[in-house]
Amino acid sequence: MALIPMRTLLDHAAEHGYGVAAFNVNNMEQIQAIMMAADETESPVIVQASRGARSYSDDNYLRHLMLAAAELNPKLPIAMHLDHGNSAATCISAMDMGFTSVMMDGSLEEDGKSPASWDYNVGVTREVVQAAHSRGITVEAELGCLGGIEDGQGAGLSEEEAQDHLTDPEEAGRFVAETGCDALAVAIGTSHGAYKFKKKPTGKVLRMEVIREIHQRMPDCHMVMHGSSSVPKELVDIINEYGGSMPETYGVPVEDIQEGIRHGVRKINVDTDNRLAITGAIRKAFMEDGSQFDPRYYLKPARAAMAEVCKARMLAFGQAGHAAGVEVKSLDDLKAFYASA
Ligand code: G3H
Ligand code: 13P
Ligand code: ZN
Repeated sequence: MALIPMRTLLDHAAEHGYGVAAFNVNNMEQIQAIMMAADETESPVIVQASRGARSYSDDNYLRHLMLAAAELNPKLPIAMHLDHGNSAATCISAMDMGFTSVMMDGSLEEDGKSPASWDYNVGVTREVVQAAHSRGITVEAELGCLGGIEDGQGAGLSEEEAQDHLTDPEEAGRFVAETGCDALAVAIGTSHGAYKFKKKPTGKVLRMEVIREIHQRMPDCHMVMHGSSSVPKELVDIINEYGGSMPETYGVPVEDIQEGIRHGVRKINVDTDNRLAITGAIRKAFMEDGSQFDPRYYLKPARAAMAEVCKARMLAFGQAGHAAGVEVKSLDDLKAFYASA
């Protein structure tokens, strides 16, 4: 099956009340891990690459690895998404390289650091929506700012500062109407990376009511949760048991994500949990047998550990079992859909 527009997956998820995990990738083993989990759970798939991933792997490798994943898994619908595009040019270069969905993150300026104005965000998002929809490609936008920094992208807000940049539900309605985006990333107090919360988050810092209110105002809006790794203690413990030094930290509990899914969240971004699983498995392999030097010795368990995380999220978010139900639509089908809207 060819790579399909992400909008198709989000619409199906909304119709059937589930969420789809969007996993970040940088290399072949990560793509294989996702596909192993999707095959086992019969899940629709969103694979995403950041700007950092694109420069690490090169677009050509990524595109051909994704095409291989689609060729080897003809029964699974797969979307390939750009994570946190920082400009229209970045998004357009991804479209040219075969991505079927892009995120224009106009919540930050092009430097990827400074919180942007409303006018900048609306203007640049609208520009990307026009370019993308004329090709049938999906657009995710963001309103409000997350905490943390990844790949130099992010305002670097602390847990406390992130509370001042939450998405305003009233503004969200205007933003979606003015930009025509297909999906909206919302800021609810989470941040990228492993250090989200200093203790198990309560409703004071993880503001699920923002999601509930947006859903009430716009029941058809596909919301996206970023910074949604759960940072399981077991994974951090493995890293520390085998020579790592990660301090105590907390992520977004799976139950809160499930609540979000009941209120319009359709895409959930997960990268850190997979990084933790991979790192723990590699550390363990190194410590268990220092005489090994074949990369397959440690990459195989790393890939299997990531597949386990992906499988657990696919089951928890409800996407498992839905692959066959997704009506496959091409970019041309979506192009016609947008043209007639
Ligand atoms: O956007 C969040 C992901 O964790 C990507 O991270 O920019 O370091 O590739 P990255
Ligand atoms: P985590 O760092 O919580 O995995 O978030 C990833 C993300 O939001 C990618 O855009
Ligand atoms: Zn993100």
